Amino acid sequence: MPRITAAEGQAETLVLRWDSGAESRFPWFWLRDHGQDPDSLDPATLQRRVDTFALDEAIRGEDCTILEDGHALAVVWPGAAEPQSRYSADFLATMAGLLPEAIAAQPGRQPRLWSAAGGLPDLETVPYGEVGEGKPGLRRCLEQLQRDGFVVIEGAPTDEASARALFNHFGYIRETIFGGLWSLSAEMTEHDDTAYSTQYLEPHTDSTYSHDAPGLQCFLCQEFDGKGGESILVDGFALAEEMRREQPENFQVLCEVSVPGRYIEPGVHLRTERPAIRLDGARRLQQVSFNNYDRAPFLLEPARMKAFYRAYKDFHARIVERGNWLTIPLRPGMALVFDNWRLLHGRLGYTGKRVFCGCYHNHEDFESALRTVA
Ligand SMILES: [Fe+2]
Repeated sequence: MPRITAAEGQAETLVLRWDSGAESRFPWFWLRDHGQDPDSLDPATLQRRVDTFALDEAIRGEDCTILEDGHALAVVWPGAAEPQSRYSADFLATMAGLLPEAIAAQPGRQPRLWSAAGGLPDLETVPYGEVGEGKPGLRRCLEQLQRDGFVVIEGAPTDEASARALFNHFGYIRETIFGGLWSLSAEMTEHDDTAYSTQYLEPHTDSTYSHDAPGLQCFLCQEFDGKGGESILVDGFALAEEMRREQPENFQVLCEVSVPGRYIEPGVHLRTERPAIRLDGARRLQQVSFNNYDRAPFLLEPARMKAFYRAYKDFHARIVERGNWLTIPLRPGMALVFDNWRLLHGRLGYTGKRVFCGCYHNHEDFESALRTVA
């Protein structure tokens, strides 16, 4: 862990030197705003107690002391009534970019992107009996979800109550227009959607019409008596990264053009829009959204429209390339959980009877589970 070896107060900043030889600068105002002592920060909830907006813009520390052999720092602020602020060296090093951020879901662990080019992952199923409170299976599921974007659980009971209990381990089940735990079969007629049919379903992400598309999607195969119907998974992050390398102009267009999605049935009209590829502030992939069935009309000026169609077609060609597909024949008792912000899913056409139930979770709850369970 980094140790502070020297601290030097300057007009605008405090300069810290680290045992690695690195140097970091912290504005005085920022330091006053980020004290970790109980007067500045609630120790249990980590909610801020400092009144940021009452602070003097020109505040400057009067004195500072390196504590605990370089593992902590204290700053004394001017005025007798002003408290002293304390900081751990780990916190300051993290903020300075010298340590991975603990707020990242599973800091230090990178997703393992997969495609035809880089190789597809093996199917490492997790036995149902291991997925429960305090058992190692849930941690394995979350690790595989973070690494590959999906996990398959085998040997699960096929009744709805057991399915609900299983899926509740990943976060609370989200209520949508399809219900909490929904059923899916070609015999159902409540929702007039392509998913409720026997035909081939092209890989897509769900809920391109939702402002906050579900983060995890869960399926449990309850009955299957027929042929075909394999689930298709595609790693949208891997394909987006390939496009970023091979066709950067197309990648950029898909990061910029907002694509509307819609869902319409009697009494329901959902609609939102976002780019097919969403990045964070550091231009890392955050979410892919692709569902040509649910795309709503939009019109750009002709050159931009043409560029969009070219880029969208490029992405689509990568998505429907069979070599990029992982196909999983889900049979009764098999559950599939996957990251709907990263993976696209589809299904081969089938004959016979196929009954599934499933549900959604919010992405933030999945990320919370990654931070707290795994
Ligand atoms: Fe879907």
